[in-house]
Amino acid sequence: MPASDSDAPARAPWWTKAVVYQVYPRSFADSDGDGVGDLGGIRSKLDYLADLGVDAVWLSPVYPSPQHDNGYDISDYQEIEPVFGSLAEFDLLLAEAHERGIKIVMDLVVNHTSDEHAWFQESRSSLTNPKRDWYWWRKPQADGSAPNGWGSAFSGPAWTLDDTTGEYYLHLFAKQQPDLNWENPEVRQAVYSMMNWWLDRGVDGFRMDVINFIAKRVELVDGPAAATGGGSPMGPQIHDFLQEMHREVFEGRRGEHLTVGEMPGVSTDDALLFTDPARHEVDMIFQFEHVGLDQGEHKFDVLPRNLPALKQSLSRWQDGLAATGWNSLYLNNHDQPRLVSRFGNDTTYRYESATLWALVLHLHRGTPYIYQGEEIGMTNVRFDFIHDYRDLESLNHYREAVEDFDLDPGTVLAGVQTMGRDNARTPMQWDASPQAGFTTGTPWLAVNPNSADINVAADLSTERSIFRFYQSLIELRHESEVVALGDFALLEPDHEALYAFTRTLGDETLLVVANASDAPLSGPLPADVSGAELVLANYPADPDAAAHPTETTLRPWEARLYRL
Ligand code: NOJ
Repeated sequence: MPASDSDAPARAPWWTKAVVYQVYPRSFADSDGDGVGDLGGIRSKLDYLADLGVDAVWLSPVYPSPQHDNGYDISDYQEIEPVFGSLAEFDLLLAEAHERGIKIVMDLVVNHTSDEHAWFQESRSSLTNPKRDWYWWRKPQADGSAPNGWGSAFSGPAWTLDDTTGEYYLHLFAKQQPDLNWENPEVRQAVYSMMNWWLDRGVDGFRMDVINFIAKRVELVDGPAAATGGGSPMGPQIHDFLQEMHREVFEGRRGEHLTVGEMPGVSTDDALLFTDPARHEVDMIFQFEHVGLDQGEHKFDVLPRNLPALKQSLSRWQDGLAATGWNSLYLNNHDQPRLVSRFGNDTTYRYESATLWALVLHLHRGTPYIYQGEEIGMTNVRFDFIHDYRDLESLNHYREAVEDFDLDPGTVLAGVQTMGRDNARTPMQWDASPQAGFTTGTPWLAVNPNSADINVAADLSTERSIFRFYQSLIELRHESEVVALGDFALLEPDHEALYAFTRTLGDETLLVVANASDAPLSGPLPADVSGAELVLANYPADPDAAAHPTETTLRPWEARLYRL
């Protein structure tokens, strides 16, 4: 969909002008005082989301689950987890969201099920069970070891020996998350039928969990030669699977659905194939390149922020999917640290840096995703003890690093404090009351101690409201074709502090200039802004600007959007 094509705006799908808000149900709002967020809580906040202006909500999993991985281990795909509510309440949520013009996008977790799912229970029961082949079972090697050297994303091997039949099963994530065998057509049909059941119920699409891993490099699964211990397990048949899914689930539906595939480890060339509309795979993907730049060999080895690398990476993705395909835009989600702590300054310049990153991200070409709490500048948490954390990824990593590899506990804890997923999962901070208005009970994960200062009520009562800034950005995307579809061009790619780019559609050009640093930045702007309209900024207008149209000082974390 090149922007130079003058009919493009008329033909552009709805999600090119949309902003999606991610709700992590456990941590959003608790309506019954059990300390865990629920559907009732989400329903009570729909007016808040409508006020923000978002077009769709992506719900992290709300299905029955033993919750080893907070719902990403599903034991029944066609029910609602009782802690969250019921199907009847889900239907109410859907209707009430639709009344407000908000679509609901479900999380589709079909690379794996829970080990408590009936499919796995049957599969593990005997070598001859009809569902045996629904998962990846393999005999031990001659020396008793696992079929290959793949490691699980949550520490330890990706294979677990099951006593019932003496065979190993594959789990790329926790051992309670066995991988489904998508080579088996019955598995695929069962998943498509479940997806159709949700769409028939009225949901508006799916965010697809690690969907590129459903296709395995089958030749790597077996035998010692296959031991890799790393690399992507994604097999080339992924495209056939996604095209089949499209035919079986989406083709022929008139509705306006959204499909976004989470795909670790893919390149822009892969993404082009996945998101080319003519190929009928997915609308967009979540890629990981930009959120891997500050991680060393392991995600908990934290590297310093590298602004040129970040800009150049996002720009490469903009260019890669400019003519065909589409980008999703995100800087945080339930698996990532809080963006203001990771990329900004979450103390002195919290408002400025939160709004700078909001402006920069939302002015890229693609569909922006806001993660709950981002719109009020929620920050990372810093628990003093490992036992205050809940996420299995952090806890497994800590145990392995300290017990098996003898690393210094303080250093390992510091990595968890910076990169751990619980940073994103502390309860939503609604007000200054003791549990931040999230629950009247004891929250499942402690509230961030800064909730007395950082919360929705406080944000909305100040002139410098991050929420209101996001509102403006969302309005802008709804109204402006150049924001939705304009061509992107990065300026000053090597600059260590300046983030600058243009967006152009027809004869309209927007310019973003942003000082992503704690120090003032003086010098010429990368374009002449005399006579330009200042559309949005996170500081009051610079009184000297008119006198120095090409020479300016950007204050710490100042961001401006001009229409040239
Ligand atoms: C990606 C999800 O976003 C993450 O939270 C989860 O742990 C893994 N996939 C496994 O489902």
